[in-house]
Amino acid sequence: MNDESLQKAYTLLNRSVICCDGRPIGTAAVGDPDRPPAKNHGECFIRDFFVSGLVFLADGNPGIVRAFLLAVLDITEQEHESTEASIHPSVMPASFRVVRGAGGSETLEGDFGDRAIGRVAPVDSLFWWTWLLCVYVDATGDVEITRQDDVQNNLERVLALSANDAFEVFPTLMVPDGAFMVDRRMGVYGHPLEIQALFYRALRGALRFLTKSPENQRLVACAEARAARLRDYVRKWYWIDLFRMRDIHRFPNEEFGKSGVNLHNIQPDAVPEWVAEWVGNDAGYFAGNLGPGRMDFRFFAQGNLLAILFGLATAEQTAAVMRLFESHWPELIGQMPLKLCYPALEGEAWCLLTGGDSKNRPWSYHNAGNWPVLLWVFVAAALKTGNNALAQRAYQLAAERLEQDAWPEYYDGKSAGLIGRYANLNQTWTAAALILADKLLKGHPITPLLFV
Ligand code: GLC
Repeated sequence: MNDESLQKAYTLLNRSVICCDGRPIGTAAVGDPDRPPAKNHGECFIRDFFVSGLVFLADGNPGIVRAFLLAVLDITEQEHESTEASIHPSVMPASFRVVRGAGGSETLEGDFGDRAIGRVAPVDSLFWWTWLLCVYVDATGDVEITRQDDVQNNLERVLALSANDAFEVFPTLMVPDGAFMVDRRMGVYGHPLEIQALFYRALRGALRFLTKSPENQRLVACAEARAARLRDYVRKWYWIDLFRMRDIHRFPNEEFGKSGVNLHNIQPDAVPEWVAEWVGNDAGYFAGNLGPGRMDFRFFAQGNLLAILFGLATAEQTAAVMRLFESHWPELIGQMPLKLCYPALEGEAWCLLTGGDSKNRPWSYHNAGNWPVLLWVFVAAALKTGNNALAQRAYQLAAERLEQDAWPEYYDGKSAGLIGRYANLNQTWTAAALILADKLLKGHPITPLLFV
């Protein structure tokens, strides 16, 4: 990126900083100088701040990250202490805003899915928070923060999810539709890959920093077992490549008992025709979702890339996912990295699974639109796997256009030639992702901290 473009990205990031009582505590999703942000995009989203937070950490500015971690925790504690609280105790807010009182006092108000469009529960917030806490501690050495009572309580909330209180057989976490970055109805209820990858990372982070005591011994044992089962299960059952497709194509059905090759009773007739050819001879990926009688063959980029960063994927699987990107560059990267999912839901499937959502029409927004924020995670995964040329190639595409397009939230079209129809401009995580990718490519010391 030329320096001027980088400077503009920083201007946007800095303009979006939110303060409470004069102290920086987050970044707004949009930092648009000309018009007020749409709907709730003036708020600080937990998943969006993760990217800004990494940039602040990399720049030796950890104060805002610490303040953010503690502020979000405070909002969460207050919510769960309140007597009317009906939200699941492990949910952190999707976003928060600063509310100014009559006397000029400032307080923070979280959105636990009670204000968000579609009123979706942000299950991923706790996981992004835990991951950011880990990177913060590794980058600063401030282990003290993890010893605070409220932080310990929150780490327990992560582990508590492993003591299965849902009506479930699998080690994966069952969530409602829209519980993560795809925060609208998109047929992503059940066991979406992105949630499983984040859950795996959060379990390991929480296990690392929870102070062990006789009282939490059972919980810790449970979480350790759950993380190991989750890893093995995702590696085995979510995986799709040509060899696996050959098995699935000839799956027997109605298997009963402890053994069996078709654990989920997938019907071979339900497998879309494009899959086997698309993976080709040497590529592969993790399915978007898996549950009883259901395998969602859509490719979701973020879940696959996070699986690589977290070592949830084996070395062979990791290499196969990177080969998928290489061999399907025009579809998965196109003119702007990166397609959120592939392919789009179209026709009846779009109507049934999105509820006819016009924002999520085929090849737009969450429904196979391209999101520049995903650049940083692609670059990180490519660097982890020694695919520096791919990382550089994707970065170049983004660097050439983002500033001139005014930092859009997403792009539309099969190859992402169009700025998203309803995309915000001056989207903070778009700029932050480009800055972060630039740092990763230059070998910033924060890079290996993302691979644990
Ligand atoms: C949209 C995205 C969500 C993001 C939010 C703020 O709702 O779907 O993932 O966190 O905007 O940018």
